[in-house]
Amino acid sequence: MNTRVEEALNDQIKKEASSSQFYLAMASWAEGNGLNGTAKFLYKHSDEERFHMLKLVKFVNERGGVAIIPGLETPPKEFQTLENVFQLLLEHELGVTESINNLVDVCLQEKDYTTHNFMQWYVSEQLEEEALARTILDKIKLIGNDKGGLYLLDRDLETSAIQPAVGPAAQA
Ligand code: FEO
Repeated sequence: MNTRVEEALNDQIKKEASSSQFYLAMASWAEGNGLNGTAKFLYKHSDEERFHMLKLVKFVNERGGVAIIPGLETPPKEFQTLENVFQLLLEHELGVTESINNLVDVCLQEKDYTTHNFMQWYVSEQLEEEALARTILDKIKLIGNDKGGLYLLDRDLETSAIQPAVGPAAQA
């Protein structure tokens, strides 16, 4: 496997692992603050990021590279508000998108079209994740200090279509 591409893929493995940890910390905070629907949503999102990481690990190994499993960094355990949580989540996703775009660029520079093709799944996934984070953040801003609105949003996050894609759709 091309060394530059392998390094970039391993860097992405680290970013997906750190996303999973970050969202797990957010989920735990939400659970501790009575936001059970939000917690469920974030636990799922954390699982999804782990799946993103695994998909990369398997790809690197299958293509004759060596996947590097990163150590864990401790994410924050306190967050100011729910708005703060989703603001951080959106910013984090924007950083991940930038990193994926860089990785795609490295593939093109190194003429690794197989990895380039593989990465298209991540490019689409980022579009969805950014849109989802923005939608939720907009709703939170709209709700403001309305406790009833917050209750409904938390319930929606538990039961409605506002869910990250996990399962067969995410594994396409
Ligand atoms: Fe795997 Fe949310 O990026």
